Amino acid sequence: MNPRLQQLQPYPFARLREVMHGIDAPAGISPVPLHIGEPKHPTPELILQALTEHSRDLAVYPTTGGLPELKQACARWLNRRYPEVSVDADSQILPVLGTREALFALVQTVIDAQSDPEAVVLSPNPFYQIYEGAALLAGARIAFADCPAPRFLPDWHSVDAAVWPHVQLVFVCSPNNPSGAVMSLDDWRQLFALQDQYGFVIAADECYSEIYFDTPPLGCLQAAALLGRNSDKLLMFTSLSKRSNAPGLRSGFVAGDAALLADFLLYRTYHGSAMSLPVQYASIAAWDDEEHVAENRRLYREKFAQVVPILQQRFAAEYPDASFYIWLKVPDGDDVAFARTLWREAAIQVLPGRFLARDNGHGNPGAGYVRIALVAPLAQCVAAAEKMVALYQAA
Ligand SMILES: Cc1ncc(COP(=O)(O)O)c(C=O)c1O
Repeated sequence: MNPRLQQLQPYPFARLREVMHGIDAPAGISPVPLHIGEPKHPTPELILQALTEHSRDLAVYPTTGGLPELKQACARWLNRRYPEVSVDADSQILPVLGTREALFALVQTVIDAQSDPEAVVLSPNPFYQIYEGAALLAGARIAFADCPAPRFLPDWHSVDAAVWPHVQLVFVCSPNNPSGAVMSLDDWRQLFALQDQYGFVIAADECYSEIYFDTPPLGCLQAAALLGRNSDKLLMFTSLSKRSNAPGLRSGFVAGDAALLADFLLYRTYHGSAMSLPVQYASIAAWDDEEHVAENRRLYREKFAQVVPILQQRFAAEYPDASFYIWLKVPDGDDVAFARTLWREAAIQVLPGRFLARDNGHGNPGAGYVRIALVAPLAQCVAAAEKMVALYQAA
């Protein structure tokens, strides 16, 4: 067996199951799942229709590089969404099967642990756990930049000076999971300055970029363009999972540095991660349409508008910059106890923040917070918020 597999940590949801073991929710109440970030709004008809129309294309092996028509649709979307950004569809776009596998696979492509046995992947903390697993399986070390309150974005100064020369890849996640925080142009300026100094690749996980209130979040390619930079060593990752309520479609794309993408394509050809043709056609339809995305945002906006004021009656709840998460500070500082109480008393499932972060020498930056995903229907989210307030008012 590959000994690196032993280094992998249990997934946050496995840890949640463990701490909930033996605790029963009240009988007769349906569970309210606010712990998993799985979109629940309906998948748009145009996606389903395109899938059906092209189902006979299942008879064909797709290429790893993807259809030119899909790459052009992605490039069109990028340019519409970020007017400063214009990419060459052929060399600067690569379709992927959702961001998760692509984030993982990129690390296997980029990390060179032969030339530096101390190669480091740097991740925000809290973080999406794939970053860590990808680093460990590529033979790199994982290092963390904590995301402290009140901004919940990586504090690069907290990274040990001795670590920087070994950093080969930096993950950023904006809008952030779990806090919803969005990096500003100044944040990008700071990160680009470090990149110029140390030469690492930046992998920007932007899968929540379309779930926002009024102001579309800044993207990494947009930030680079605004700062007069090109996309060397810079890749953005996005998908239709959250934007188009299609997490099961497994469709996204990576855009940016053409040279990196050429190597990535080589890796992926061997890995065997080509997107099936019906999915590619459904993706073209999805990227070319914004109406369903605006409706999706409206549904989330409505939930936040009702849920946050209720939570504020008892908790320090705040609107995120973007995403569908509330990163809630728990009243007594114990996120696991809080999650257990909500489950035992009200069948509400939330994710303790400590499971999304690592102890970084001065405590776990996720401890004391829970992540609440507003994915359930509006009425269920509102009822859950009211229950939480009632429970803690009585406490
Ligand atoms: C931060 C982050 N990145 C990536 C993903 C993976 O999403 P997908 O593979 O569906 O694009 C998720 C899913 O929840 C996520 O929260």
